Amino acid sequence: MKFSQSTLLWLAATAAAAPSKTSQESPRAVAAACSSAVSLDASTNIWKKYKLHANNFYRKEIEEAVLTMDASTAAKAKEVANVGTFVWLDTIANIAKFEPAIAEVPCDEILGVVIYDLPGRDCAAKASNGELKVGELPKYKTEYIDVIAGLIKKYPNTAIALVIEPDSLPNLVTNSDVTACKNSAAGYRDGVAYALKTLNLPNVIMYIDAGHGGWLGWDANLKPGAQELAKAYTAAGKPKQFRGIATNVAGWNAWDLSPGEFSSKSDAKYNACQNEKTYVTTFGAALKTAGMPNHAIVDTGRNGVQGLREEWGNWCNVKGAGFGIRPSADTGVELADAFVWVKPGGESDGTSDSSAVRFDSFCGKSDAYQPSPEAGQWHQAYFEDLINNANPAF
Ligand code: BGC
Repeated sequence: MKFSQSTLLWLAATAAAAPSKTSQESPRAVAAACSSAVSLDASTNIWKKYKLHANNFYRKEIEEAVLTMDASTAAKAKEVANVGTFVWLDTIANIAKFEPAIAEVPCDEILGVVIYDLPGRDCAAKASNGELKVGELPKYKTEYIDVIAGLIKKYPNTAIALVIEPDSLPNLVTNSDVTACKNSAAGYRDGVAYALKTLNLPNVIMYIDAGHGGWLGWDANLKPGAQELAKAYTAAGKPKQFRGIATNVAGWNAWDLSPGEFSSKSDAKYNACQNEKTYVTTFGAALKTAGMPNHAIVDTGRNGVQGLREEWGNWCNVKGAGFGIRPSADTGVELADAFVWVKPGGESDGTSDSSAVRFDSFCGKSDAYQPSPEAGQWHQAYFEDLINNANPAF
């Protein structure tokens, strides 16, 4: 997944926030699941009530990673396994991850899930090109979304937070001149609306991906961006469980660094959203005008270190990155429901092997860690760096 080589990109800011340091090193005792149906009220900040679940899929990746680490890094890695992280259903086959994950979730926690399998996925980049081709929308609906909806209905006692299709609509706003995005546009719009409508179930809260401040935060992108997202919300029949947007997914921008990381660039005057806090507020206002719910969750999983990217739009395995602010509903901003970890830190953004079909030139840039495996694959060296560069520290 990536952030687009959009014409108008860029931004950032530093990690802030005071960190709650956990010292747990072993899995928590499993608390009980809810004994009755969960009903999430999308007019409230549900993250005040539910904690993001630390899932066993990520825990297992970490348990394996720990085997080849030095003792001090390993001790920290075990703490990372206790941090809530989203589960990515990035292929039809990976829907298999969903049911076991649901079974783990105690009643005071919420399972974070990323819906990510649109036909012609990642149209402005190559690293996360998916399994479905443009035109395979019927398959997306019946073999992907409907199946996920069926599982959610099967487990009404579990709270689930969905991030819907990272990068898809933002790409339609800024990369409509890219042929693959032009070809994908109708399927993205229909697919996202179908997902929002079909997954609108009482135990679900939904957020649609809104890129980040360096993407839709540019003056010229705010209004068209808000309108594009609002169109999907409206086409879905204004679903009741829809709460707003997810920003900075798999991204690098700081929450409230001021001045922002790219604010001394000559084009900074065209983007007031120099950190995610400003973006949430400014884009949130545009969403309101466009008639859409505008609360946000912000991915702070890998934004612990700033000043690493040569350009704001660089998105691939940024070298020197560190884990960021832990998931929390304590954001200090009413529109920002929560800091969450969406991208599981340690999974690659894309391969650096220039002979690979999904090689994207962003993964060969000088600020991208090399060598790196295919998107989603475990990246041991990168994970160890994230741990040791974490801010707040583990
Ligand atoms: C990849 C997915 C993966 C996700 C989380 C994306 O960039 O394309 O396959 O599940 O990252 O690591």
